[in-house]
Amino acid sequence: MNESLEALRGEVLDRIQQSNSEMEIEQLRVEVLGRKGKLTLLLRGLADLPAEERPQAGQELNQLRRVVKEHLDERLKVIKEQSKERALEEEKIDITLPGTRWERGRAHPLTLVLDEIIDVFWGMGFEIARGPDIEDDYHNFEALNIPKDHPARDMQDTFFVSNDRVLRTHTSPVQIRTMEARKPPLQVIVPGAVYRHDDDATHSPMFHQVEGFMVDRQISFADLRGVLTHFLRQIFSAETGVRFRPSFFPFTEPSAEVDIQCVICGGKGVVSEGQSCRICKGTGWLEIMGAGMIDPEVFRFVKYDPEKVSGFAFGMGVERIAMLKYSIDDIRLFFQNDLRFLRQFG
Ligand code: DAH
Repeated sequence: MNESLEALRGEVLDRIQQSNSEMEIEQLRVEVLGRKGKLTLLLRGLADLPAEERPQAGQELNQLRRVVKEHLDERLKVIKEQSKERALEEEKIDITLPGTRWERGRAHPLTLVLDEIIDVFWGMGFEIARGPDIEDDYHNFEALNIPKDHPARDMQDTFFVSNDRVLRTHTSPVQIRTMEARKPPLQVIVPGAVYRHDDDATHSPMFHQVEGFMVDRQISFADLRGVLTHFLRQIFSAETGVRFRPSFFPFTEPSAEVDIQCVICGGKGVVSEGQSCRICKGTGWLEIMGAGMIDPEVFRFVKYDPEKVSGFAFGMGVERIAMLKYSIDDIRLFFQNDLRFLRQFG
């Protein structure tokens, strides 16, 4: 084989070996074996050689052609194999790996307590009613027998939306709305947000109440005591002491403040040797809600005859119950949405 053919062979086989893509192999195939390829042109050039040199040269060229073709095919196979392996490697999925875990949310502590409260009343046959957060003066105050000069109407306590409209300061207006729309017998609770101009460790400008009332013929204070005692013993503990103290609300007569035995000291007023309980301030009792017999004036506003029907009503703060149940000492924790706090519930 002459030297230039030898050099061409060396160069072409090197380049085949260094090729790394199907495209490079294809380009080389065209460049060497194509219609205008180097070897093709050399084969065509055989015609110009003297007759005695032709067979030998022809043989050598054809052999080189075969070798080049074999190498191209071989290299192409290797390249295809490699790219397949690379693809398999890159697209590998380990089906034994654990999936992405989505952390489950949980109910807010106030929702938990509210659900519990509703459950207990539901068990005693109460239905659930709702009313508007923006309330008119008539339903929030007037019809509840809260006169114009009552301190509860002070700007200090009430958020006014306009002259006649307020953010409701309690859930009691829903008593009025329900009685206006329906006739006794009624046995209703009203959970909902209420608003007051107040902000410290035990007061929040927005908080929640559950109002409740029962109206029928011959409802007595004994019914009120029975319902609330059962309720409080379900929420706190079966042994919890419950007491009713005389009090005043414009919309009930008589009115009472309802206390439970202190959840921290168990009613003893002391936590350890001579150290008085911080939560109940040594009294052994905690004020938990307001209640009373619905005032005849309120019945007149809703056109019920106070000679024919009677009823009781009560109202409690959901945050306060949750704070006592879970020993939480700052109401603001409920609304800061700190996950470290919220994760402890539910
Ligand atoms: N509305 C009162 C308040 O927000 C709570 C209340 C007290 C509701 C006595 C009542 C009740 O229905 O009888 O402080």
